[in-house]
Parts: sequence; structure tokens; C-alpha cells
Amino acid sequence: MRFVCCEPPMTVGAWAADYVAQRILDFAPGRDRPFILGLPTGSTPLAMYQHLIQKHRAGQLSFEHVLTFNLDEYVGLAPGHPQSYHSYMNQEFFRHIDLPAQNIHILDGNATDLEQECQQYETAISARGGLDLCIGGVGEAGHIAFNEAGGRLNSRTHLQRLDASTRSANARFFEQDANQVPTYALTMGVGTILEAREVMILATGPRKALAVYHALEGQVTPEWPVSALQKHGRSLIVCDEAAAQKLTIKA
Ligand code: GLP
Repeated sequence: MRFVCCEPPMTVGAWAADYVAQRILDFAPGRDRPFILGLPTGSTPLAMYQHLIQKHRAGQLSFEHVLTFNLDEYVGLAPGHPQSYHSYMNQEFFRHIDLPAQNIHILDGNATDLEQECQQYETAISARGGLDLCIGGVGEAGHIAFNEAGGRLNSRTHLQRLDASTRSANARFFEQDANQVPTYALTMGVGTILEAREVMILATGPRKALAVYHALEGQVTPEWPVSALQKHGRSLIVCDEAAAQKLTIKA
């Protein structure tokens, strides 16, 4: 597992955007050979999305031949709900770039058959040959996508009950009211994420320091889902100095 600690003036958002852009450019995607990207939500990736939009506007990067699969979505929020991940992605990224609408995949948290929705998502990822690069954030308790602590490290896309701590961390997006945060979500499994050819996790701020410590220096354990990245040959964690403060190793 590679580790990058960004020191000012470099930021996690700028570093990650440079990395994603370079990956796409090196791959030289085309109509018959798109680049397959797994995408996260949350506060952490916002700066990366802004930098990617800037690169697109500067004519340095096209998403015409990129296909995206989002990591997760709440269950039971209408797609137009301002806090749905459909809304987030459209607002923060998709509407600013040249990614064709048919190239976007986000789990449908309102599907009548949620299990079938998860299976179809897995099938769609496999049919495209798997993710080339999967980008994620990490929760304070070490969850990746919505894979909560204690789940299987080989899980596939599934319906996940959210922990009280996750709902309270996300209450800031729901008028500070954890009761408004949905109780369930659909999420790619840890196993699904680990099958990506490359995984990049972003972490910023002191509240992520313990999760970053467990990701890099702890045991691989279901109690810290992010630790599973240690089993991946091409995984990368990109953080700032605050998120790296509990590490004993240096980047
Ligand atoms: C949510 C998302 C995760 C995200 C995490 C951290 O639970 N489902 O994918 O990584 O929050 O979010 P933030 O970056 O806002 O701290």
C-alpha cells in the first residue's frame, strides 16, 4: 500500500486530481476502450472534483470516454433529494464536464428490488471489465463507501444498515438531524472495491487520523474496513498532515 502525505502548498484535492488526470491520459481511452472510474461522495473529494473540473475547462482533460460507477447511495431518498448522491454527483461534478449521461452509473436506492439492483450493478461493472481506478473517502470509524465496521472484507454490492455513528457524522448534511439520515444504503462491497485494478483513498483532517493509522499500520480487520486495502497490490492512501498525525512511518 502506497502512502502520500501532502504538505502545503500541495493539497489532497490537487494531488488526487493530478493523479486521476494522469491515469486517464496515460490510458488514452477511446469509444471501444473506456476508462472505468469508481467515484466517491462526501466532503473530502469535493476539492478533487473542483480541480478536475478546472482541468476540463482548461482543455487538458476530457471525460468523453470515461465510464463512472459511484460507490454508494442512500436508500429511500428521491434522486432529486438535495442530499442524494445522485444530486451530489450532478451538482459537484457531472454537470460541469463532458461525461456522457449514459456513461454514469449510480445505484438506485429507490429500486423496488434492492437485492436485484445490487446484483445488476455487479454485473454491469464486470461486463465492463472491472474498475480501472476506484477512488474513495474514509469514515471516521474506518468505513469505505458504506461498508460499516464488522462487515465481511469480501462483501459484494449489498444493502447496508448504517451505524448510528455514521448517521450522526452525516447529520450535518440533514439539518444537523441524524434522524433524517436514511437508515439504509446500497454500497459496493469491500470485495468489489478490492477488485479494482487500483484503489485510491483520500483522507483529510484530524478526525480521520485514527482511520488512517488503522489503514496503514493496524492489522487487517473487519473492525476497520479500510485496513483491507493492505491486501491490494496497487492501493494508495493520500492524506494531509492532520490525517497522518497518528502514523509512526513517514511518507
Ligand atoms: C459517507 C460516504 C463515504 C465517505 C464518508 C466520509 O459515509 N458514504 O463514501 O467516504 O462519508 O465522508 P467525508 O469525506 O464527508 O468525511
